[in-house]
Amino acid sequence: MILIKLGGSIISDKNKPFSFNEGVVRNVAAELKNLYPEKSFILVHGGGSFGHPMARKYGIRGGLAAGETKKLIGFSHTHEAMLELNEKIIDIFLKAELPAFSISSSSIFITDKGNIVHGELKVIKEALKIGLIPVLFGDVVIDESKGMDIISGDAIMAYIANEMKAEKAIFLMDVDGIYDREPGKKDARLIDVIDETTVIRHGMEKIDVTGGIKNKIREAMKMDCMVYFINGMVKGNLTKAIKGEKIGTIKKRK
Ligand SMILES: Nc1ncnc2c1ncn2[C@@H]1O[C@H](COP(=O)(O)OP(=O)(O)OP(=O)(O)O)[C@@H](O)[C@H]1O
Ligand SMILES: [Mg+2]
Repeated sequence: MILIKLGGSIISDKNKPFSFNEGVVRNVAAELKNLYPEKSFILVHGGGSFGHPMARKYGIRGGLAAGETKKLIGFSHTHEAMLELNEKIIDIFLKAELPAFSISSSSIFITDKGNIVHGELKVIKEALKIGLIPVLFGDVVIDESKGMDIISGDAIMAYIANEMKAEKAIFLMDVDGIYDREPGKKDARLIDVIDETTVIRHGMEKIDVTGGIKNKIREAMKMDCMVYFINGMVKGNLTKAIKGEKIGTIKKRK
């Protein structure tokens, strides 16, 4: 099984609330169409300009205090915004005749102080067995200590990669990989291989309630499998990473 994260930064414009980059998702579907069903896939997508602004508006990461009924409404609204984005993605895959199947992360995960402490993966495993392509997403989550929190698509990637022994994990981003400093900045250098010793700098980031690039790297470091960070806006890159060609930034198998 190959695990693929459709970064919120490629499926939407994180500077424009509720924007959707249909073309990018169509390209991903077209590439997977050539590889499915010989290979099996689990997809995870980020919040992009749907989830992040809603989570910030309702202060979901701040947790739930006693009597905060209004926040529960915000919790559900944030989830609905993610379902809206998820539906757009699923529709594109179905049109390409790929059996993408939505699984809400908030229905199968529980966190404690932001860490996943429970993940109900049986349905995902069985879905894979019958040939479905499960599609999960960064979502709201019930947290044992805080009441509520946000679970990032990146954390879901790490959990599933290890629990389900993924062959490899691929992060599709809007830049060519991991840079030693803010991408686009003068002298910024693309790093070929990252490991525990890698130190990067990051500049002003677009809205991201779960820690942006630093947290993405932290989650990738937990994974036992090979991890790719590639530019998902460029057609053909995903196929190259799946086939094991040298592209973007990699983290080697532990
Ligand atoms: N040193 C760096 N190397 C690579 N990317 C960086 C770096 N510093 C900042 N970034 C930015 O991090 C972004 C990717 O992280 P971010 O969490 O915003 O995206 P995402 O995971 O695609 O979105 P989402 O969280 O909605 O899924 C890129 O858009 C990139 O511009
Ligand atoms: Mg992010």
